[in-house]
Amino acid sequence: MGYNIGKLKHRKLAVRWASGVGNFYQDLFTEGIFTMEIIHDSAASLDPLKGKTVAIMGFGAQGRNQALCLRESGVHVIIGVRQGKSFEAAKEDGFEVMSVKEAAEKADLIQILLPDERHGEVYKNEIEAGLKPGNTLCCSHGFAYTFNTIVPPKDVNVIMVAPKSPGTEVYRRFMEGFGVPGLIAVHQNATGDARDIALAYAKGLGLTRAGILECTMQQETYEDLFGEQNVLCGGIVDLMLCGFEVLIEAGYPPEMAYFECIHESKLIVDLIYEGGIQKMNAVISNTAEWGEYSNGPFILPHEQMKALMRESLRRVESGEFAKKWLAEAAAGAPNLNAKRAALAEHPAEITGARIRSMFEKK
Ligand SMILES: NC(=O)c1ccc[n+]([C@@H]2O[C@H](COP(=O)([O-])OP(=O)(O)OC[C@H]3O[C@@H](n4cnc5c(N)ncnc54)[C@H](OP(=O)(O)O)[C@@H]3O)[C@@H](O)[C@H]2O)c1
Repeated sequence: MGYNIGKLKHRKLAVRWASGVGNFYQDLFTEGIFTMEIIHDSAASLDPLKGKTVAIMGFGAQGRNQALCLRESGVHVIIGVRQGKSFEAAKEDGFEVMSVKEAAEKADLIQILLPDERHGEVYKNEIEAGLKPGNTLCCSHGFAYTFNTIVPPKDVNVIMVAPKSPGTEVYRRFMEGFGVPGLIAVHQNATGDARDIALAYAKGLGLTRAGILECTMQQETYEDLFGEQNVLCGGIVDLMLCGFEVLIEAGYPPEMAYFECIHESKLIVDLIYEGGIQKMNAVISNTAEWGEYSNGPFILPHEQMKALMRESLRRVESGEFAKKWLAEAAAGAPNLNAKRAALAEHPAEITGARIRSMFEKK
């Protein structure tokens, strides 16, 4: 399903739903909206990676854990990273470690797991010259290809294999004999078997054991940025801080405010993760559930909030967010650093550290 066709169908349905026309839930099934097939282990083979060298560029959260999984799966992995902490860590884990440039020259598949804002410059300076026709460029987030910080030659494959989880969870779940879910995308298919290579890489990480979905790089990039900015990071964090600030400004003890507005959110999210919002509502009291329905839309007016979220999505899809973020990073991230410093001094963070040390298992 092409990105734009899907987008149009979804929009039409959403408009009908909002205006009370038709049965949105039935339409989801009858109008071919649930078209995404979940791909499992049996549909993937590790064969396309047999006899190949996979270079993982970067040994951070994703780099280390993806490299460990692939090694366990019998794939030949080398690590390309600059000198420093990550370089030493990769050596300690027993990997063959070298510069990004050297690894790019040796590799058949190059998985770039550097910070997104660095992909363009490292690609230009250290990877591009080592690329050979038929090589595969891989990523775990489509930022660089969606916003063109990397413009690859036509004779290489470009794929994405994105675990939907932090790196440490990728390896932990793999070692438990299962895996985390993930997304794959084929952006450029120079050799004709780019999809098989993406499936093989996903299988090597254990993602096909849990199940993967196939999408376009644009879909993954836009949805990922939208989700983290509006709900998962921006969104949840701001909600927690607002709640905490209101309570302490009203004279409540910060320890109690922290428990109420920040600490307990994990328990709520865990329940939603396990069984949806209804399961969470079944566990909390009727009073809490009624407060959710009656007060939630009062503090977060849905139409107003959705209008703002639509503007946020526009900034993501138009490239406006990416342009500003890349400029911030290129200037040495002064605003990011200032925000980090301010957060370190926020009473919620200071209270949180105190709470965690008080309630540690002694
Ligand atoms: N974190 C997640 O949960 C997650 C989930 C899905 C996808 N992803 C994607 O995975 C990719 C990697 O993210 P990450 O969170 O794993 O990054 P990260 O933890 O920040 O690690 C980045 C790695 O890149 C190295 N590095 C930085 N600049 C470099 C340079 N100029 N030359 C060579 N090496 C350099 C760092 O080495 P040093 O130690 O020397 O700094 C570090 O090993 C991104 O595309 C991200 O969007 C992340």
